[in-house]
Amino acid sequence: MADLGVECAGMRLGNPFLLASGIWGESGESLAGAVRAGAGGVITKSIGAEPRAGYPNPTIETYSEWGLLNAMGLPNPGIDEYPKEVAIALRAGAPVIGSVFAGDAAGFAELARRMAALGVAGLELNLSCPHAEGFGTEVGSEPRDVEEIVRTVVRSTRLPVIAKITPNTTDPAALARAAERGGAAAVSAINTLRALAINVRLRRPVLAHGLGGLSGRAIKPVGLACVWQIYEAVSIPVIGVGGIATAEDALEYVMAGARAVEVGTAIAFDGIAVFERLSRELSGLLDELGYARLEEAVGAAHPSKGNAAPASAGRGAISGAR
Ligand SMILES: Cc1cc2nc3c(=O)[nH]c(=O)nc-3n(C[C@H](O)[C@H](O)[C@H](O)COP(=O)(O)O)c2cc1C
Repeated sequence: MADLGVECAGMRLGNPFLLASGIWGESGESLAGAVRAGAGGVITKSIGAEPRAGYPNPTIETYSEWGLLNAMGLPNPGIDEYPKEVAIALRAGAPVIGSVFAGDAAGFAELARRMAALGVAGLELNLSCPHAEGFGTEVGSEPRDVEEIVRTVVRSTRLPVIAKITPNTTDPAALARAAERGGAAAVSAINTLRALAINVRLRRPVLAHGLGGLSGRAIKPVGLACVWQIYEAVSIPVIGVGGIATAEDALEYVMAGARAVEVGTAIAFDGIAVFERLSRELSGLLDELGYARLEEAVGAAHPSKGNAAPASAGRGAISGAR
């Protein structure tokens, strides 16, 4: 069986599948449940300085079988209420990554300090939510801002800092380079794509907030393109996210340059058992392609890597397999 273990941003993951922020993982129990279901690590809901109720309903709609459209408005209990949830999640035994959001660098640094004190293994900075006024893309769309936020957070904590990059930009690689200059240990891409659906009978947007973010299968090619460009631009690890529902999706991200991947919307469609299935199927797929270790496949589709065949090719492997 191929080895799915990966080293990413100073964390050792038993498998590359992380629970993505915001889907399933707000309470400690649900985070722990994802670990028990086979996630290699979990990322908390993005937590802010104060409790937030989020936007009025409807906040989420399915977009046929292609994904979800959401504008939750970053509902969260606030950092004061969060220690007990992280404590429960930590008992499940896999790395817990604390996701935080704020409106400026000082706000991010303060939250990062407080999240770090809870015993998490790393921090993910939400620089990319497309629909929350004053947060997310509004503070994460300019390389200068990304660099300043990341640098300020990195100075405030010893934990690995992962910058989560928006796809709603012409140059995601420039944002990733800025995060790297600021000292990020890794970059994750992508958050949801800004999107809209309209109910023609009511003559109004389907979501109460109007604009939302698209996730799920529909966005996989966009996520792959971002990861591809970012991998070419930085030397820190890239974490791929967006539309991963099968082992082949995950391996596409890995071959595009991701060392680990996050899974979100697939849980809404397939349930939390998706984690166990993804690991099982990815082991089988790597065996079939002749990879002894997942890490051998990172970036393998890049010409700059010579479209690397598995190191173990020759043992019945398909030579040159993508
Ligand atoms: C309902 C919902 C809530 C989300 N909340 C957050 C969040 O709080 N913080 C964040 O960084 N990303 C959030 N995301 C984005 C996901 O973490 C992920 O980047 C995106 O959905 C793409 O991955 P997927 O196609 O596997 O869902 C949310 C996505 C959805 C669908």
